[in-house]
Parts: sequence; structure tokens; C-alpha cells
Amino acid sequence: MYITFCDTTLRDGEQTPGVHFGIAQKLDIAKQLREAGVDVIEAGFPASSPGDAEAVRRVAEEVGRDRSCTISALSRMMKADIDVTARALEPAARKRLHLFIATSDIHLENKLKLTRDEAIEKIRDSVTYAVSLNAFDEIQFSAEDATRSDFDFLVKALMTAVECGATTVGIPDTVGYTTPSEITETFTKLRKILPEHVTLGTHCHNDLGLAAANSLAALEAGAAYVECTVNGLGERAGNAPFEEVVMALKVRGDSFGKNTFTFGIRTEEIAETSDLVASLSGVSPAPNKAIVGKNAFSHASGVHQHGVMQNRATYEIMNPADIGLTANTIVLGKLSGRHAFADRCSQLGYSLTSEGIDHCFGRFKEIADKKSVIANEDIRAIVSEYLDSLEGRYWLNTFQIQSGNHIKAMALLTLDVKYPDGETETVTEAAPGEGPIDAAFNAINRIAGVEDAQLVSYNITAITEGTDALGEAKVKLKSADITCTGRGVSTDVIKASIKAYLNAVNKLINSRTK
Ligand code: KIV
Ligand code: ZN
Repeated sequence: MYITFCDTTLRDGEQTPGVHFGIAQKLDIAKQLREAGVDVIEAGFPASSPGDAEAVRRVAEEVGRDRSCTISALSRMMKADIDVTARALEPAARKRLHLFIATSDIHLENKLKLTRDEAIEKIRDSVTYAVSLNAFDEIQFSAEDATRSDFDFLVKALMTAVECGATTVGIPDTVGYTTPSEITETFTKLRKILPEHVTLGTHCHNDLGLAAANSLAALEAGAAYVECTVNGLGERAGNAPFEEVVMALKVRGDSFGKNTFTFGIRTEEIAETSDLVASLSGVSPAPNKAIVGKNAFSHASGVHQHGVMQNRATYEIMNPADIGLTANTIVLGKLSGRHAFADRCSQLGYSLTSEGIDHCFGRFKEIADKKSVIANEDIRAIVSEYLDSLEGRYWLNTFQIQSGNHIKAMALLTLDVKYPDGETETVTEAAPGEGPIDAAFNAINRIAGVEDAQLVSYNITAITEGTDALGEAKVKLKSADITCTGRGVSTDVIKASIKAYLNAVNKLINSRTK
């Protein structure tokens, strides 16, 4: 049985608190997902904002034109949403509309204020309308919170969608509540009830840490369509991690009873895909994360090291090369030219414009003057910081900080401001603080008028080892119900912190004006 992989990093993954993908980031991730052999890329939720509609359209245009993968987009059960989605997907060679509505009583009564009959009506009207547009190659209906829905009503909702023209039905475990044995039972029963031509899809959240196990159980019980996200990004505890589901099928394909699964994922692209998503989302997998954590293939104890030296299979159930982990032999440094740098950026999955390469190469040269070897992680940090800054309003011009153990810290910052109408100005502001970083952040708050923003977290790490390492600062800011993360890179930790804070402030302002 062929398993169709739908990656929803660009839609559900973007629902990770603080994560925002701009158009450039979405395009790079979508291209890498296509490279990895993903069958369906869920590119966004076009009716959620004009920016997201534009991003889906660009993915459809630049990644979905050649039929190697289908582009999907999420839509509520509303004619206006379906129309916006149709326009956004229009350039793709294969277009999938993903309609959803909740079917559990708790969602119907409290969130949607709909009766069960009204929900059925909406399903009937929306799927029928979507079919009538002739704008989609595939129509999927997902019953949100399916695993907490009354089973008979769930069947009624799915059957209504199928009768009106949906060919895939999703049974999401929206709140990560189900268990492997329960989902096995649900899919086994649904497979018997629903017509054979209908594909069953699974979409599991990870609230109990069971998303990958539940997805695999659903596949074993009749699902043929699996939705997941790279590094398990997503709301709350995230979604089923793409890399875990793929590698479980590859390494333990023998354990799925009578089913022989095949799939089109090129597993050697997994490490690259994970690194790209980590750098563009600003969320790195935990070191002990299965498959892609930085410890996933390292052996610390002497006994293990001894075993692995005799025979890798003593402690490794997969070969690192299977997920694409290979040593890169060409080292970049201060003598490397623009061409070698551009080449490495493209190998790492970034498609920069010539202007983007010039900018990043300039940063690379500045850093290479201070640091002898530039690792791939450094390059990812430079490029991600550049891509994040493309949508920015406030840019660092200069900073001066006074700080010491007997004086109150004081920061004097000059920022360049680029307004959406093209106007620019330069603004200088001074502010005191508890220390140099606090003073600098206070000065930015004054200039940007975001004094209400709360700093939820701030950390700084060395990207590689050594005293000349690049420092990467990450901040998380919250204002009202919007949370934004920002990142900045420099060999000077204060500068990295200011850039990270500005990056988060820019995202906050973008979200407020959306
Ligand atoms: O988790 C969920 O229920 C979803 C649906 C919108 C498909 O993401
Ligand atoms: Zn979801």
C-alpha cells in the first residue's frame, strides 16, 4: 500500500507559538519538501490573512507547477474562504482543497454554537459549492476533534462530505487525546464503513507524546494518507514529526503485519529538511529528539563507544547516512569566494536573490575576519537572520552602551525606520536599564512604541565551539495575545541581542497590521 505523505509544516507548523514564515521562508521550505519527495504540501490557510493567501499563491506558482507534488490549502466551510483558497491555489498543477469543521459536541456547542444538524448542513453546502467551482483536483474534508466526537455522528459527517464529492477524509486527533489501540479501532471501523475509493487520512497531535505512534497505528488500520510536520512543529506540543513517521516505516516496515507499505520520501533529505526548518522557524529540536536531535547518533558511554567501534549495529538501528548525515569536506573561511558561498547556501536549501547573496556574503566576510572556520550552522544563522529582516520596519544603525558595577546601565540607540509607504527616517533614543541588554531593549521599546510588550524569554548561545564563536540571541515577546520570536547573530553578544529584539518587534508590528 502506498502511503501519501502530506506535510503541514507551513500551515499547522506555523501555528507554533512565535513562529512566522514569510514568503521567502515558505518558498525555501516548500522547495526542500518537494526535494524530500513529499506528496502533498499544505502551504497555508489563505483566508486567515492576505499575507498567507499570497504566500500560498507563490508556493503554488513556484513549487507546485510541475506536478511533482500537490499543493494543499486549508479552508473553513464558508463560500468566501473557499473562493480565496481557489484563487491562491490556482497556479498549481495539482490543487487540493482541505475543508474542515469540528464534529465533537464540545467544539460545536462552545466554539461554533452550531447544532449537529447545522454542522451537517455546512458540510453539504461547502463541499457541494467547492465541487461546483471546478477549481480543485482533490477535495479533502477533515472532522476537527474527530477522536472526541460521537462515532455515529462522525460517520454521518464524513459520509455527507463523501456523498457531496470529497475523496479524502481526515480524522484528526486535534488535542492529542487518543491512544494507539483506540485509533486502531476507530480506523478499522471507518475503513469498513466508508466506500473503498475514499482515502482515510490521519493527523495526530502530540499532547501525550503519542502522535507518531498514533499515526502509525492509523496507517496499520487502514489510513493511507498521513499529515505531519518537520521536527514535529505545531500548536501546543506539536504534530506527528515527519522524520519519525518516515523512519519508523523505513526501519520497522517488517512490523506492520500483512501490510507492505511503500512511500515516496527520500530519507537522505531528512537531516537537511530538519536543519532548514529549524533555522527558518527559530525552533531547534531538543538534543535527544528522535532521528534529528543532535545526540540521535552520538554515543557517550565507553561501553557504547566500544560496541559501535566493533560494529555500528550494536547501538545504531539506522545508518546516519540514511537520513543524509554526511561530513562536509569543503570548509568555508575568509579566503572563500562569493561563488563557493552561494553554492553552499543553495546546497543548504536557500534560494537567495543576487541581492540576498551579496548581503549574506558581506556578513559572511565580516564574520570570517573574526572567526577562522565558518560552519554550516553559522551560514544558516546568517541567512535566516537576513530572511527574517526582509519584512522589518526597524533596523539597527548604531548603538552605544554604558554599563558598570557602580553606574546604572544606559543605552543610546539609533534605528533606521522604513515605513510601509516607503518613507524612511532615523530615530535616536536613550534609555536606562538594569543592565546593558535591558537598557537597549528599553530604548527600542520607546522608539517602536511597544512598551506594553513583555519579554517572555531571552537566551544566547554560541552557534559553534570556541571563543570566536558566533553568538545567536533568541527572544520571545508577548503583547496582548500575540507572541513573536526573534533572532540575531553576531560575534558581539550585545549586538546579537539588539538584532534579535528588533526582529521580534518587527514581527509584532507586522502581526498587528495584518
Ligand atoms: O488539528 C486539527 O484538527 C487540524 C485541522 C484543521 C485539520 O489541524
Ligand atoms: Zn492540527
